Amino acid sequence: MSILVTGGAGYIGSHTCVELLNAGNEIIVLDNLSNSKPEALDRIKEITGKDFEFYQADLLNKNELMTIFSENKIDAVIHFAGLKAVGESVSIPLHYYHNNITGTLILCEVMEKFGVYNLVFSSSATVYGLQQCVPLHEELPTGATNPYGRTKLMIEEILRDVHVANNKWSIALLRYFNPVGAHSSGRIGEDPNGIPNNLVPYITQVTVGKLPKLKVFGNDYPTEDGTGVRDYIHVVDLAAGHLMALEKVMDSQGVNAYNLGTGIGYSVLEMIDAFERASGNSIPYEIIDRRPGDIGVSYADSSKAKQELNWVAQKGIDDMCRDSWRWQINNPNGYEKDQVKRKISVT
Ligand code: NAD
Ligand code: UD1
Repeated sequence: MSILVTGGAGYIGSHTCVELLNAGNEIIVLDNLSNSKPEALDRIKEITGKDFEFYQADLLNKNELMTIFSENKIDAVIHFAGLKAVGESVSIPLHYYHNNITGTLILCEVMEKFGVYNLVFSSSATVYGLQQCVPLHEELPTGATNPYGRTKLMIEEILRDVHVANNKWSIALLRYFNPVGAHSSGRIGEDPNGIPNNLVPYITQVTVGKLPKLKVFGNDYPTEDGTGVRDYIHVVDLAAGHLMALEKVMDSQGVNAYNLGTGIGYSVLEMIDAFERASGNSIPYEIIDRRPGDIGVSYADSSKAKQELNWVAQKGIDDMCRDSWRWQINNPNGYEKDQVKRKISVT
């Protein structure tokens, strides 16, 4: 099969490209590199020993997209491209709405023009909003608390409308829980810009000494140790979920949402513990106030993905921490090792 991967140079996209290539698919990657590095693409090739076409292109540029579709035979699209920082989305909402929503509209227009109706979309557990009724299942009401979350929710609705208008569309809305970990080679992983917002990249940077200590956001949640509980899922399991979703999309029609999580929640203190085990280092932390907008507990009911996609997460918390740690120590400055070294040597 030949698959267009939008946002394929990013964290989840790069891991999914590896799985797609290893399973014998052809891929075409589109990315504007606004939040990723071309080095990730070289490393996908290095891990898999396979080559693929890359277009440094923006989804907002319809002409570029038309060129990609006319130059390649495309059976399906996996659509990762989007902006994802919650805090930033509050500061620059128009940019988020334009990039994520307009980008998806243009993608769908061009897909229709070329008769490509198979789509796997990166949604998020954020669409459950402030819902406290765990485990979260796909039939629960949705909501959003920030512009980023609203882009995911709106895109889900748009894609449902697109299918109502033309039932040739076959679409999987994958609601990811908390992706962490890295490829076991230690060659690709999460490379956040600046100071990380999310727990695991923050912990790994504290563990290598790049950041002084972790701030734990609140210990007064109604959880066993009072800290927030999340469903962390290994990015390679998540990538495998896309292949299963692709199979489903290729031999059915309609729009279906699927939770991709492990179904197990871990607290912040349990994550610190697991990282200390994986790294052999102690992780300094302090408890501070809750982060505004955070919920106490979130974990998935992924039984629909098990039943309909035949997908179940295989990797546990120790695999996640070990692989995140390996990526961090092998690539202390992410993909920018050489550039950072150069910067340091001139100052
Ligand atoms: P990422 O930022 O690493 O990857 C997204 C990629 O899309 C980047 O390489 C970026 O350069 C590219 N991109 C953004 N806008 C583009 C545009 N207009 N045209 C072309 N390329 C563009 O993010 P990720 O963590 O790999 O997430 C992938 C998708 O999954 C995103 O849609 C994100 O919202 C969603 N998601 C991520 C998480 C998470 O915690 N990482 C959780 C839930 C959902
Ligand atoms: C965050 C986003 C969410 C997004 C998800 C993607 C916010 C408010 N929410 O969710 O929209 O879909 O990432 O994975 O940004 N924590 C700390 N200290 C830190 C960082 C986090 O204690 O420095 C705690 C949080 O309070 C939470 C847990 O760790 O309990 C996980 O946080 P994080 O990794 O940011 O993920 P989410 O809060 O689930």
